[in-house]
Amino acid sequence: MSTSKATMTKDGIRLYEPADFAGMHKAGQLAAEILDRIAEHVTPGQTTEALDTLITQWVNEAGAKSATIGYKGYKHASCISVNHVVCHGIPSTKTLKSGDIINIDVTVIVDGWFGDTSRMYVAGGKPSVKAKRLIDVTHDALMLGIEAAKPGNTFGDIGHAIQTYAESQRMSVVRDFCGHGLGVVFHAPPNVLHYGRAGTGPVLQEGMFFTIEPMVNLGRPETKILADDWTAVTRDKSLSAQFEHSIGITADGAEIFTTSPAGKFHPTF
Ligand code: MF3
Ligand code: CO
Ligand code: CO
Repeated sequence: MSTSKATMTKDGIRLYEPADFAGMHKAGQLAAEILDRIAEHVTPGQTTEALDTLITQWVNEAGAKSATIGYKGYKHASCISVNHVVCHGIPSTKTLKSGDIINIDVTVIVDGWFGDTSRMYVAGGKPSVKAKRLIDVTHDALMLGIEAAKPGNTFGDIGHAIQTYAESQRMSVVRDFCGHGLGVVFHAPPNVLHYGRAGTGPVLQEGMFFTIEPMVNLGRPETKILADDWTAVTRDKSLSAQFEHSIGITADGAEIFTTSPAGKFHPTF
């Protein structure tokens, strides 16, 4: 666990010490490396359960822990969300088809630090024109959000950057799920909204650690949860995409902890 004497803002957001960035970097890099390695396995005919088994094995081999196994009763090392599944897809024996778009989300714990990241894959590597646009726009929306993540800006500036870009491309931003503070815990304040008004919300400060993880839909933003109590889908069955990075606010911007060691955060196909 961390021995740092972190302080809190009035909004209950923890401010970590400069030395804490190294722990987050190590955790983030492991999660990202696992997402790099899984890419070649995301193929037509593969089951999402088989992908999760590989991920579980790689987390264990690294001497790390899965943050999701046992989290609120969740039983898997990854969430795998296919096509109109927005997030929290449960690995299953269903097989992938050519052209399916797939988000894989992995959170690991290394030396007490949490690394949380997700990215998009396409089974067979040939997305439809619409699916490719959705994936590109979602990735670019995340990166625009990260560009807005610097001291003096607010959380509203991040949400505003993401929402205005996604909507300018005639897509919608999911409101029902958000990013979150993390560090020595999985989910901490604040809720990092992927929509909002510039200049609103808490001011970003050096030492804040959080995720940005926009979910963007081709159709309407509304979601519903299936009877398994986890799987979130678009109500209108439109395709949904998501990318997630864990970041830390520095003196003049943000460090991305979950950059891909292989340089394949996007595209993975
Ligand atoms: N990794 C997800 C996030 O981005 C949380 C998954 S919780 C689980 O916050 F239990 F569904 F795995
Ligand atoms: Co997250
Ligand atoms: Co995640």
